[in-house]
Amino acid sequence: MSANLGNNLDPWLSAYAERAHTLSVSEVRALFAVVSRPEVVSLAGGMPYVAALPKDLLEKSYLSMMEKKGLLAIQYGGGQGDLTLRDQVRELMALEGIRSSVEDIVMTTGSQHGLELLSGLFIDEGDVVLAEGPSYVGALGIFRHYQAHVEHVYTDHDGMSPEALEESIDRLKEAGRTIKFLYLVPNFANPSGVTLAKERRPKILEICKRHHILVLEDNPYGLLYFDKPVPDALRSLDEEGVIYLGSFSKILAPGFRVGYVLAPPAIKDKLILAQESAILCPSAFSQMMISEYLANSDWQAQIDTFRGVYRERKDAALGAMHEFLPKLETTKPDGGFYLWVTLPDGVDSKAMLPLAVKELVAYTPGTAFYGDGTGHNKLRICYSYPTPERIRLGIQRLANVINLQTDLLDTFGKKGAAN
Ligand SMILES: Cc1ncc(COP(=O)(O)O)c(C=O)c1O
Repeated sequence: MSANLGNNLDPWLSAYAERAHTLSVSEVRALFAVVSRPEVVSLAGGMPYVAALPKDLLEKSYLSMMEKKGLLAIQYGGGQGDLTLRDQVRELMALEGIRSSVEDIVMTTGSQHGLELLSGLFIDEGDVVLAEGPSYVGALGIFRHYQAHVEHVYTDHDGMSPEALEESIDRLKEAGRTIKFLYLVPNFANPSGVTLAKERRPKILEICKRHHILVLEDNPYGLLYFDKPVPDALRSLDEEGVIYLGSFSKILAPGFRVGYVLAPPAIKDKLILAQESAILCPSAFSQMMISEYLANSDWQAQIDTFRGVYRERKDAALGAMHEFLPKLETTKPDGGFYLWVTLPDGVDSKAMLPLAVKELVAYTPGTAFYGDGTGHNKLRICYSYPTPERIRLGIQRLANVINLQTDLLDTFGKKGAAN
């Protein structure tokens, strides 16, 4: 039986469902207690810097929301979500070229729950999900839970390669596999920070359409660009073949747990049924708070503030990489939270993590972002949360650990380094 299920001290060990085998502690969660000590610089978890959100802005929204909505805010709501907020979401999505109707939007408990519900609707055991390589760890966990096989498609500095996508589809079809959907984070992807180039977007959609493959476009970071807006959303180019997922977690705060899904009508109907069956309805309280915030504060200026904070931190992270680890290849994001770093040959980011934590710095090992066990010589740096000074200190510490590993490798060969 899988170690993931627990141990013999658990009297219910034999009672778990087969799919419970797929649940495992994430690479970072396992070290969480140590990583959250104040002396450790954590470049690991993807936490938004919510301190950049003025406290009185939320307090004002809360008071005015309770005055207007009263008991409705603490009552059950509809399974599709609050109508006023859905209308505001429509306007938000229009910023990325999307035309939509409130009828086709479903509010969810963060986009994570949207992903979970959609996976439940589409994935049978053994089905294939296509994804970027690397891909978002939280989505991979869900796909694993539904016992999908994740096929990573070659991805470079311009996002997923359309040629590689076509090749993967041909190969999988030839092998008789059922492909259920393509999962993409097209803007400032987690973990790579790369953005899918404008000219690749219609090509990817054309390939998926020709092979009758649904596209899940997961876009929590698109509005957090540093200089120029991202290309229009995939969904703006194809209304029938794309399901779009958005979230308030990164442009406002994750604590509300509010996200949204825009889906073709038939899928939307099924999604509402799945949501009602799973949780009855998303939180009316959180949705009404956000709706009030959008209606009565300058939320665009607030997003601008976030952009400024993250741009400064990205510059600090890239500056420190240049200063302390000039030989390492790293992505250079135009927005979002993440750098994706390639380590020297033979250095294993997963084996190195305990040593790094001992040196008081944490990151996420590359293996977390692949469903196939690869990614050993990669790591993700998240620069959204620590101050620029702490980021520099963290990367300086990381450089000490990596340089020590490289020295060991040079002196003793592969067996000398942590592996
Ligand atoms: C690509 C991606 N999708 C979805 C999520 C989940 O976000 P939410 O807080 O809306 O559930 C995250 C969170 O980090 C993410 O990076």
